Amino acid sequence: MKKNLLSWEETLFRDQDVFDLNYVPEQFDYRDEQTQALVFAIRPALRGGKILDTVCRGPPGTGKTTSVKKIFESLRETTQLVIPIHVNCRIDSSEYAIFTRIYTSLTKLSPPPSGTSVKQIIDMIAHYIEKENVHPLVCLDDANYLIYENQFNKTLYPLIRMHEIFPSVNFGLIIIISDPEIDLQNSLEVRVQSTFHPEVIQYPPYSAREIAGILNERVKQGLYPKVLPPDLLDVIIDNVMKHGDVRLGLDLIKRSVLYAEKAARKEVTEEDIIKAVEASRDRHLEMLISSLSDDERLVLKTAAELFSDETSPTTKEIMEALPDNGPKLTRVSEIFKRLDRLRLIDLEYSNQGGGRRRYVHLHEDKKMILSLISRSE
Ligand SMILES: Nc1ncnc2c1ncn2[C@@H]1O[C@H](COP(=O)(O)OP(=O)(O)O)[C@@H](O)[C@H]1O
Ligand SMILES: [Mg+2]
Repeated sequence: MKKNLLSWEETLFRDQDVFDLNYVPEQFDYRDEQTQALVFAIRPALRGGKILDTVCRGPPGTGKTTSVKKIFESLRETTQLVIPIHVNCRIDSSEYAIFTRIYTSLTKLSPPPSGTSVKQIIDMIAHYIEKENVHPLVCLDDANYLIYENQFNKTLYPLIRMHEIFPSVNFGLIIIISDPEIDLQNSLEVRVQSTFHPEVIQYPPYSAREIAGILNERVKQGLYPKVLPPDLLDVIIDNVMKHGDVRLGLDLIKRSVLYAEKAARKEVTEEDIIKAVEASRDRHLEMLISSLSDDERLVLKTAAELFSDETSPTTKEIMEALPDNGPKLTRVSEIFKRLDRLRLIDLEYSNQGGGRRRYVHLHEDKKMILSLISRSE
């Protein structure tokens, strides 16, 4: 009998880390233009000048974070003058959390004691910069989360105006926004608008050919030869193109290889991929629902309860079914739009039968949504 079983210590991965979402790849193609624009904005600081502020825009999975991380890596290797600070605004989503993060990254000290005010932390940051005579370069990554939480202007204002109080303190800023619906100019208060004039760098979605190039490279690095046959990688690429996010591809490769390993096979099969697609979709939905605010979850839950195979509720019916202490009308309309953007619901406008109505259809299975909501409550 042909021996095709994996003994326990064998693995199909050459290096499993290359499929991690935070992995910074060696090879980073298709983003030369964006990288050059960032370098151009940062370079003046190497000669003692000011960093130009930039805003990186593009949907998720278009290489924004990676391009900044790669530039930060080479800055750390070439200079001690510019101190790169990366802030993930999904995690640090308040003014307080962000300045604490800037302080700890900059000074390598532990966070200031609780009870320290934001203003005090900002002063501590400024004094450190004056003393060390460095150029801080802050990347607010996924800053759209600050916009949703109404923390964006509050955070930006001290960063762009600090040099008025501390003349030798100049922050360079890279703002990453991964929600294409956001109108940046409209999100800025006048007091911020008047001094914040960033260069906008666009990250368009990757084409199928580019996705294939990226995933192929990763497969070569992370898997042993023949583990994932090329025609099956094509099946993965087709799935990725439906959503346009490379991260889905990395996740599908990792999952399907793990399924193959579990079954003690040396090759991935199409069934592994189909299973991986389902698991990945469930996981995506779970993360999406757990990232919603309480109000958003309440509106989604109410919509799901009123939804059936035969009928979809209108926005008005959902509004009326909300508890008295629930969110108010204007907030609820915003929530509908956001849930629609996140593809949790589909809004349908109708003028039939007189009067304008909006129907709310569930984008995913009702039972599944309700069970995920109850799990995240
Ligand atoms: N041009 C590229 N070459 C190689 N890997 C890439 C490229 N663009 C994105 N990736 C990979 O895709 C994933 C998502 O990229 P990321 O930079 O996090 O996107 P964004 O910040 O725009 O959401 C990461 O794992 C990253 O390594
Ligand atoms: Mg990112």
